Amino acid sequence: MKLRTVRDLDVKNKRVLLRVDYNVPISDGIVGDPLRIRASFDTIRYLLSKNCSIVLISHMGRPKGKKAKEFSLCHVAQKASTMLGHHIGFVEDCIGRGAAARAAHLKPGEIIMLENLRFHKEEEANDPKFAKELAELADVYIDDAFAAVHRAHASTVGVTKYLPAAAGLLVEREVKTITEALEHPAKPLVAVVGGAKVSTKIDTLNNLMKYADKIAIGGAMANTFLAAQGKKIGKSKHEADRVKDAKKIIASAKREGVELVIPTDVIVAKSLTQTKLGRLTDLNNVEADDYIVDLGPKTVAAILNPLDFHGSVIWNGPLGVAEIPAFAHASLSLAHNIIESGAKCIIGGGDTAAFVDDAGLHDKFAWVSTGGGASLELMSGQKLPGLKALQD
Ligand code: 3PG
Repeated sequence: MKLRTVRDLDVKNKRVLLRVDYNVPISDGIVGDPLRIRASFDTIRYLLSKNCSIVLISHMGRPKGKKAKEFSLCHVAQKASTMLGHHIGFVEDCIGRGAAARAAHLKPGEIIMLENLRFHKEEEANDPKFAKELAELADVYIDDAFAAVHRAHASTVGVTKYLPAAAGLLVEREVKTITEALEHPAKPLVAVVGGAKVSTKIDTLNNLMKYADKIAIGGAMANTFLAAQGKKIGKSKHEADRVKDAKKIIASAKREGVELVIPTDVIVAKSLTQTKLGRLTDLNNVEADDYIVDLGPKTVAAILNPLDFHGSVIWNGPLGVAEIPAFAHASLSLAHNIIESGAKCIIGGGDTAAFVDDAGLHDKFAWVSTGGGASLELMSGQKLPGLKALQD
């Protein structure tokens, strides 16, 4: 896939509409993990070096077309400004006279951030009039919102019809890193896929099958695979209507010669909210009122042996209920095993990125993607609308 990038456009002295994904965790005005904000700075600095002025646009949360204080980007703009060390003015709407006037008066080197795009239902509807209004704010459009390239919205797709458009440096790097990790990996390639639902990962699993030598299944979706193998899973969350899909994946792995790691030992607990450690058991001794909350050490060891692993890893989705520290041991020990092995590891965004960040391990991995759904969809081999719009 050949993306047009910001380096291919003449941006010198231009006013740039820069789509970022500043959909970051925020509580009482305090921004949590600012990974996505920091990740946009290479492009912002590149544009500043070209004497551009910048109109930042982003969504935040899912306000469903209505204005809502808790989804305002105003604190995020302040945070970005402090982190960047450059003033970022804030405009209380993303379209209308106020936004147009502020954009029109920008001088080279000035940056403004507009309010949440999703306060207008036209954004998610990819409404052409709304897209055109956004486009009229600038001379050039750059998309650096990798985490939103799987959305066909006005600010990711519609706007590209009205302005010269290209990918920012983050989008370029994410796509290159993830694509290369799949297509030209150090072998063997181990893919670790966790998370809640098989239903959202079927395409990804099928696509990974083409590239990976081993696929390890974790998270609540492993329960559906265990059910497919006829194992007892107690009261564990699983998707009964997806057992047949899990069986198909087990069969295709066998056919394709891909080793599938399905849990052989697990941690169980009587409640999903308990804070004390669970009980380690094999699969013959899961009780009717047990929840499977994490993988056991035998299963984690089957994923890779840090002492003799020289391949690469793609990891998307925690192995257990990792937001509860008592059930995060498998994810943590996998993280340490990968780091100890020295393998190049790409972390899919979303929960896995949050997990390695919280564990203070972010810098130990080759790449931590800023996109949750987007990285998953890219790994599923689908053509993402936001990228298609930027292709030569
Ligand atoms: C994300 O957090 O995955 C992106 O910002 C996209 O958000 P969305 O799933 O609400 O479109």
